[in-house]
Parts: sequence; structure tokens; C-alpha cells
Amino acid sequence: MTRVLVTGGCGFIGVNLVSYLLDHSNWAINVLDDLSEGKLEYLERLENYDTDRVDFFPGDVRDSTEVATSIEGCQYVVHLAAKTDVISSVNNPFEDADVNIMGTINVLEAALGQDIKRFVFASSAAPLGDQEQPVDESKIPQPLSPYGASKLAGEGYCSAYAGSHGLSTVALRFSNVYGPNSWHKGSVVSLFIKQIIAGRTPVIYGNGKQTRDFVHTHDISNAVYLSLTRDLPSTYQLFQLGTGTETSVNQLYAILGKYMEEEGFHVPRAIYAEARAGEIFRSYCDISRAADILGYHPVVDMEEGVARTVDWFRDDYRP
Ligand SMILES: NC(=O)c1ccc[n+]([C@@H]2O[C@H](COP(=O)([O-])OP(=O)(O)OC[C@H]3O[C@@H](n4cnc5c(N)ncnc54)[C@H](O)[C@@H]3O)[C@@H](O)[C@H]2O)c1
Repeated sequence: MTRVLVTGGCGFIGVNLVSYLLDHSNWAINVLDDLSEGKLEYLERLENYDTDRVDFFPGDVRDSTEVATSIEGCQYVVHLAAKTDVISSVNNPFEDADVNIMGTINVLEAALGQDIKRFVFASSAAPLGDQEQPVDESKIPQPLSPYGASKLAGEGYCSAYAGSHGLSTVALRFSNVYGPNSWHKGSVVSLFIKQIIAGRTPVIYGNGKQTRDFVHTHDISNAVYLSLTRDLPSTYQLFQLGTGTETSVNQLYAILGKYMEEEGFHVPRAIYAEARAGEIFRSYCDISRAADILGYHPVVDMEEGVARTVDWFRDDYRP
């Protein structure tokens, strides 16, 4: 039976990816997670959770024995486990580097001992820093945070293991991902929903015209699956992943407010506060490379994606 290792599989993107793989493949799935952010209960509560196909390995990606145990018998690896908080990376760059760089090397090393067909690494737009928009794979990275630097290092090691060992690796630069199971994320989508459900008034920093490329977890999971299974032109590949469209925070609030009002929530007018220093004003990506090579075409628009996310928070979120 084909088996995939998903590191960080109890986190936001991980839980959604496991659910997608259960529906769209017949693979068995090993999940390695230290539960520092993730929660096993959200994985186990998935409607399609299947104990015959999912094996959970509690452990740290920095521990080579724990990684070796969890990767045994796998043909594919999706490496999601990471420290993901940008501010924490500024305050504690050593911990960020330890998990995001040393942890990644550790998983890559373990992959060499197995017959791994493809290794997919979760990168981010953060390596790029402030760029002319939209961004694509040809931009010269200029990270603005230690998190961006550690993700850039991860991309570098994926390229290096392809070059030095012939390991087939793919780095995916996710834009702003949103969707179910984002209970602990600080992104505006989950933040606004949690605040409205709790009867609080969301705050928009600046004039709300700042834009992001919000991409739903269904499309990200599909991109990961394509990255694992497609024939690729060379042993290392890099893809910018989002929807290719920009949405302002004001537009997001209007979409979210409309749906939540229809669902019976009281949606207050947002409070506008001073723009936060250092925030990038526009951010979205050109996904043509992923479209051409992977056949990646996002299908979940903001209205549908926001509705699915609100429904999850209403029905399944346990504060
Ligand atoms: N959410 C986004 O918008 C976004 C955007 C760009 C990139 N990414 C990347 O996608 C990946 C997943 O992000 P997410 O949003 O699901 O974050 P998350 O924090 O929800 O998930 C990360 C998971 O990794 C686990 N983990 C952390 N340190 C670990 C360690 N040392 N050993 C084992 N497990 C560990 C956590 O417990 C958690 O379950 C990350 O690599 C992140 O950098 C996310």
C-alpha cells in the first residue's frame, strides 16, 4: 500500500490535507507531530477519519529516531511541521531556525534512507519580502523576517538534496491559506470569524484596502497532491501557490459579514485603527507556473471558502 508521511499533520493545513488525501487517494498516512500547536482531536474528529489508514506518531522533527520511525515504509513525504509565527521568529530566531532549518534537514536525511518518490516542502511567500506584485518564482528573495529566512533555507536544502542525492523535491510557496481547522491561526479570516462569534468588534488596521491572495485549504491540498504525483521536468521544483487574485481586507469583511448575517450572527461595523508598521500593502501571486506544470487550477472562490470556514467554526470549533 502506498504510504505518505505528513509532518505537522495535526496542524491547520495538515488536518485539511489528511482529510483531502483520505478522500482523493487510497494511500495510508503517517502523521508526525509534536502537538506543540496541532491537536490530535481535530484530526480524529474529521468526518472521513479512518483509523485503518491513518497512523499517528507523536514526535519532534528534530529527533532523528522519531523521524526514522514515522517515515518507515513511506514513498512520499509532505513536510509541513514548522514554527509559523513571524513575530516569534523575530523574538526567538534560534528556535525558528532550529525547527524550520534543522528539522527540515533531519526529515530530508531520513528520506534518503527510504525509497522516497517525492518530498514536498511547505514554504511561504515570506522568503520574498516586499516585491512588486504579483510575485512569481523568478523574483529575487529578500526575506524581512527570520521566519522568511528559515523558509528560504528550507527551499535551499530541498534544492541541495535534489542536486546532491537526486531526491525529487518540490517547494510550495503558499500565500495566505484559510479554511476549516484554523482555530489557532492569527490570519484575518479566522480572527474575524472568532471575534464575531464571540460578540466582539473586529479591528481593521489601516484603510482596509491592503490586499492578500487568500487561498482555501481545499486548493492547497489539491496542489500538494498534484506536486506529489505529477511527472516534473527536474528533480527540484519551486511553485508560487495562491489563487492569482487579490482581495482587500474590506472586501473580505464584506463577504464574511454578508454570510455571517445570513447565518444569524450580529456583524458589527469593523473598527479602523492606525496601519501597522512594516505591513506589506499589496500581496498576491502569479500561479501560471503551477497551472502549466502541475495542472493546478484553484476552484474555491472567496464566497464559498469563507462560508465553509464559518460553518466549521460554528459547528466544530471548541474554544
Ligand atoms: N497557514 C498559512 O497561511 C501558511 C502560509 C505559508 C506557509 N505555511 C506553511 O505551511 C505549514 C503548515 O502551516 P499551518 O498553518 O498548518 O501551521 P500549524 O502551526 O497549524 O501547523 C504546524 C504543525 O507542526 C507541528 N510542529 C511544530 N513544531 C514541530 C516539531 N518540532 N516537530 C513536530 N511537529 C511540529 C505543530 O504542532 C502543528 O501541528 C508550515 O510549514 C507553514 O510555514 C502556512
